[in-house]
Amino acid sequence: MPDPVLEVKGLVKRYGDRVAVQRVSFSIREGEVLGLLGPNGAGKTTTISILATLLPPDEGEVRVAGYDLVREPHRVKPLIGFVPQDLALYPTLSAWDNLAFWGRLYGLRGRALHERIAAVLEMVGLHERAHDPVKTFSGGMKRRLNIAAGLIHRPRLLLLDEPTVGVDPQSRNFIFEHIERLKAEGTAILYTTHYMEEAERLCDRVAIMDEGRIIALDTPQGLMRLLGGGIIYVRVPDDAAAALSRARDALPHLRGVTVQDHRLKLETTDAQAALLELIAWCNRHNVSILSLEVLEPNLESVFLHLTGKRLRD
Ligand SMILES: Nc1ncnc2c1ncn2[C@@H]1O[C@H](COP(=O)(O)OP(=O)(O)OP(=O)(O)O)[C@@H](O)[C@H]1O
Ligand SMILES: [Mg+2]
Repeated sequence: MPDPVLEVKGLVKRYGDRVAVQRVSFSIREGEVLGLLGPNGAGKTTTISILATLLPPDEGEVRVAGYDLVREPHRVKPLIGFVPQDLALYPTLSAWDNLAFWGRLYGLRGRALHERIAAVLEMVGLHERAHDPVKTFSGGMKRRLNIAAGLIHRPRLLLLDEPTVGVDPQSRNFIFEHIERLKAEGTAILYTTHYMEEAERLCDRVAIMDEGRIIALDTPQGLMRLLGGGIIYVRVPDDAAAALSRARDALPHLRGVTVQDHRLKLETTDAQAALLELIAWCNRHNVSILSLEVLEPNLESVFLHLTGKRLRD
């Protein structure tokens, strides 16, 4: 297996007393998309800002293509493309001139610069609007140009912070296709999002982040296996809950029971089969079901299972 393009070990970042990133470790290989999935305030932007050399880490080690981020920033910077959560564009300048600005920052000049600008504009489908001022662009077009700016110097590692927020479905598909193409070309990609469908669709592996920590990291399929055959949340009257917890013989598809927020959390080997058994048991014992929720095996459910919280509240 090739060495990872990005290696992060034990990263810590504090803002005063608040620990925004707590001992975060992960790596990304060539041609791999790693998703960083987490709710507001999880620490995604803080993590990505450290990797983009915009924020110094308090602890930990980051290596890009083997170079140390803190000790050898001049080696690391040319290898990284960063697409920030907030747009980094000059509204009065044209798309072309914005890209020329970023390209020069990365040391591109003359013909090489000219060719790269034309190439990235083509990539993000904005070549026809090259000479229009950015302030005349739609939100989705600005996002695409923002991505083009992060790609101007052909980075080996692309850092994308929520690139699809506020984007129309067409631009969103465009961005997805584009990421898939970069991946095929071998770019290592870190993709932060709080949309679990995006993480499921795009990412080879997903790191689930909450309150500054990575609480799980695996392929989307591997993460979903944490749910086993699915989970049922059920609320029954208090006097029936204990009896239900003990009714293992009547519920052979039940794997385990815990109490969470006044509900029983039933881990199953097959949610649909367990649901039928549960309903039959309630009927037989004349127990009313006060609330019922079946978790589909998706990343949102995994997050709920791991944290007891929803990704979006
Ligand atoms: N400049 C700052 N000063 C103080 N605290 C900060 C600063 N930036 C972020 N934080 C805090 O650090 C934590 C992580 O924030 P961060 O922006 O990394 O989260 P995020 O996962 O990117 O969230 P979002 O999905 O809202 O973009 C939050 O508690 C936030 O309030
Ligand atoms: Mg953020």
